[in-house]
Amino acid sequence: MRARISGTGSCIPLHRLDNEAISRMVDTSDAWIRERTGIESRHVICEESTVSMAAEAAERALQNAGMDPEEIDMILVSTISSEVILPCTACEVQRRIGAVNAAGFDINAACAGFLVAYQTAEMYIASGMYRNILVIGSEGLSHLVNWKDRGTCILFGDGAGAAVVTSQSGERLEGACHSDGKKGTALTCRTRYNEDEMPDDRCYMQMDGQAVFRFAVKKVPEVIEEVLEKNHLSKDEIDWFILHQANGRILESVARRLEVGIEKFPMNLQEYGNTSSASVPILLDEMNRKGCLKPGQNIVMAAFGAGLTWGASIIQWQ
Ligand code: ACO
Repeated sequence: MRARISGTGSCIPLHRLDNEAISRMVDTSDAWIRERTGIESRHVICEESTVSMAAEAAERALQNAGMDPEEIDMILVSTISSEVILPCTACEVQRRIGAVNAAGFDINAACAGFLVAYQTAEMYIASGMYRNILVIGSEGLSHLVNWKDRGTCILFGDGAGAAVVTSQSGERLEGACHSDGKKGTALTCRTRYNEDEMPDDRCYMQMDGQAVFRFAVKKVPEVIEEVLEKNHLSKDEIDWFILHQANGRILESVARRLEVGIEKFPMNLQEYGNTSSASVPILLDEMNRKGCLKPGQNIVMAAFGAGLTWGASIIQWQ
């Protein structure tokens, strides 16, 4: 069996924080952030939560798919920033949307999490075990960001995106996913309580920005080439490259390395910043709702993040 995306949804927090507002909090400027990252603003949760955004994105995806919650067999939520550990966010979403027949669990693969969750869903579908799976990326990163660290706080934002992944007859499109734990120190965040220590800066995201940048511009083109080869597709046969929205310069570099026009790499990081595992499904939903995705088009989804972990998948739009 093959997986297809039959509906998408997203949820963006109402509160918008632009670069000017951030430059009143740390020593930075709108010009620096735009030039180095392409980001102009981000949205952060106030009334919302990682769970509420996940549930809202899921409801919108179900509506878009024309499906009832009872038809969902499984809910997979990718998150690194949920305010609940127990029960898992997937079970909270199940309760809120009334998906009474669904099994559910959470996945942590940082910014690559939506790709890993999508590939997990694909395998359940390929095995014939499930037919309809809700795959969600939801992040409240503003709780994990050190708002005194200008190297990281300018980058991240909150939000959620969801896709209903449905089985259809046909050969499975193969994805790829990799990790390199030896480079894990490039991007870290510890839990609040470790051994006898008091919470400190390590309980916020810490990043070697240049190391992550170098890793992304090398590994993302490689993994895209890998999935193209696995599926016997050429770059010219791909209509859209929907990539993790971390930094505009990373996307431009990936496009250059692949020798593909940047117009095939849609971006919304200007408005939302880096929303970790929510960025790919939020962008997918935006493209879907704008009517940019046409039946028969081939789409590459790719992401990278802490771990270090990276991956890519190909979908054919229906
Ligand atoms: N405002 C002004 N100056 C700054 C800021 C800021 N916000 N941040 C750093 N600087 C300064 C530095 O202190 C440094 O000053 P110095 O030359 O006097 O020492 C100078 O700017 C250059 O710093 P770099 O770190 O070399 O800047 P760079 O061009 O590499 O940009 C950035 C930094 C934007 C973080 C970039 O490295 C990047 O985007 N890396 C990838 C990060 C990423 O994508 N992370 C997400 C991974 S996904 C996940 O799993 C969460």
